[in-house]
Amino acid sequence: MTAGQDERAFRALTQKITRARGLACDSYKDRCLRRRIAVRMRARGVHTFDDYSRLLDQDQREYDLLLDALTINVTKFFRNVETWRALAPWLEKLWVARRGEVRVWSAGCASGEEPYTVAVALAEAARRLGQEQLLARARVEATDIDRASLERTRAAQYPDAAFSEMPPELVARYFTAPPRQPAPELRRIVHVAKHDLTSQPPPAPPYDLVVCRNVVIYFDRAMQERLFTLFADALAPGGVLLLGKVETLFGPARERLVLEEPRERIYRRAGA
Ligand SMILES: C[S@@+](CC[C@H](N)C(=O)[O-])C[C@H]1O[C@@H](n2cnc3c(N)ncnc32)[C@H](O)[C@@H]1O
Repeated sequence: MTAGQDERAFRALTQKITRARGLACDSYKDRCLRRRIAVRMRARGVHTFDDYSRLLDQDQREYDLLLDALTINVTKFFRNVETWRALAPWLEKLWVARRGEVRVWSAGCASGEEPYTVAVALAEAARRLGQEQLLARARVEATDIDRASLERTRAAQYPDAAFSEMPPELVARYFTAPPRQPAPELRRIVHVAKHDLTSQPPPAPPYDLVVCRNVVIYFDRAMQERLFTLFADALAPGGVLLLGKVETLFGPARERLVLEEPRERIYRRAGA
């Protein structure tokens, strides 16, 4: 097969996935899509995009497995623990500035480790201020495009491996004994919903904290720039944006958000 034929077959396949399941493949990086589709092709023992496309026609369940592979769901509690340490003083400032009404969006939350990490970090910040009661007034929106991930977020039951970066005293304070589940006061403030970053507006702005880590990295530059502007718009004045450790803000949003902690990718919208 020539490179041109391969490219045409790849495009036809990604368009078909978009039509069938609404995943905006043209917003994702090609090399990412190719790598993930190849994983499914190997698993099903097919060698060309055309053959894989035919397989999708014959076996609709393969779409679910493919979508799982395309929306890489790796995550853990307190992922890059130093980032959460750097965020802690900003959370205290938010508690004080907002008098407890802190609104957070964890976009691309995978199986929920990230929004529950935010909930623990908020609880700890309130504790340091001697105001544990504030937690009940916070709201964390946990959204993702992937149905299976959202089911896991709702079930909120986690294996030990998910806690490898989380300080053990916090695990003991905020989670039940194995099989580990978050404490009711955390579950009450985390609200789970399906949401596609490429096509839907933020669910309920304005936010005091937007956490979107290790998600935009899979998108092409145009979509990344669009999302950065969307995050800047969704933040209240003084609100904080947390990106993944290897993600860097660029485009017009760069003018509106100040880089407060360069190593940890903590940005802040100017204002109150
Ligand atoms: C690598 S995980 C990141 C999880 C978590 N934020 C973290 O850093 O540990 C990437 C997540 O982005 C989600 N995702 C991919 N495309 C998306 C889209 N268009 N809209 C919303 N979420 C998306 C995937 O389903 C996956 O759960």
